[in-house]
Amino acid sequence: MTQSNFTPRVFSGIQPSGGLTLGNYLGAIKRFVDMQNVGDFETVYCMVDLHAITVWQDPEKLRHNTRELAAGFIASGISPEKSILINQSAVPEHAQLAWIFNCVARMGWMGRMTQFKDKAGKNAENSSLGLFGYPALMAADILVYHATHVPVGEDQKQHLELTRDIATKFNHDYGVDFFPLTEPVIEGAATRVMSLRDGSKKMSKSDPSDASRINMTDDADTIAKKIRKAKTDPDALPSEIEGLKDRPEARNLVNIYAGLNDQTVEQVLADVGGQQFGTFKPALAELAVAKLAPISSDMARLMSDPTEIDRLLAKGALQAREITAPILKKTYEIVGLVGN
Ligand code: AMP
Ligand code: TRP
Repeated sequence: MTQSNFTPRVFSGIQPSGGLTLGNYLGAIKRFVDMQNVGDFETVYCMVDLHAITVWQDPEKLRHNTRELAAGFIASGISPEKSILINQSAVPEHAQLAWIFNCVARMGWMGRMTQFKDKAGKNAENSSLGLFGYPALMAADILVYHATHVPVGEDQKQHLELTRDIATKFNHDYGVDFFPLTEPVIEGAATRVMSLRDGSKKMSKSDPSDASRINMTDDADTIAKKIRKAKTDPDALPSEIEGLKDRPEARNLVNIYAGLNDQTVEQVLADVGGQQFGTFKPALAELAVAKLAPISSDMARLMSDPTEIDRLLAKGALQAREITAPILKKTYEIVGLVGN
């Protein structure tokens, strides 16, 4: 079966394991909004709370972070009218299909995942079984909707290849053409936003240094200060992309500028080539504040009414289950599980 046999449908998720960063915004959420607004797809966006608990989460913080992430989605432009917005645990078919996929995926596939190796570190024996099986749940998130496209940052590429491997093996083992081979959508100037303190590390909500990242809840002064203090080199900015080679920190700030301003890196360099960081950083700070401050104030407004957020999520779960329940039922039939 080819892609065209499936309804064009987008699925993506973010873990409510901390606050949203500029990396999440540029690498993922901005794309989510674009794909929602082109009108070519049904779009489903998810707070993946079951993924978050593969490492320890304080229950109170998890509740807060889940609602705050929902607020971040909405404040960034995801409309609960146009998209289905859900919390993963509220749509039980995700976890149910994940079990089937645990039985399809092989231990060796999971062991090769770089995110597992990074997160488990030297202490793999002591990490949760959930962390090891994480990609099977991610494949279930996507395939329980028969999603055809998944917008993500660069770091999720390997997980999406594994999702295709699981779909292929399931289809092959059971002799069906049931699950689509989902396309990753990794686009834009900032698919990999790096730490402001170290251009070789990804900007991450779990980095111990708050100065390494811009949080979507940072106020204007904090954003400006973090950009002013961002690590750079002493040279002026080049006017051509080749001039950013071996200058990871400079490259990162230019990527961020391009991502925020919906430009290509080439376009940005054509404008700012020759500038010193003393000039470029304040311009970047001004742009970042102009783009992010309205989002953070809208998040605060939405967070003042958590009951309304919960209502929207309950509505999203009902809409989602109209899609997921029949797909899970059919999967059970294919596998030979009776009485469902
Ligand atoms: P996570 O916060 O790990 O759940 O990531 C959610 C989404 O944000 C995924 O699509 C990631 O690829 C994306 N993402 C996270 N950090 C970054 C980053 N530093 N640069 C670009 N995309 C990112
Ligand atoms: N693994 C993703 C991350 O850490 C989050 C995620 C879970 C996801 N399920 C997904 C992303 C399904 C896209 C589609 O960023």
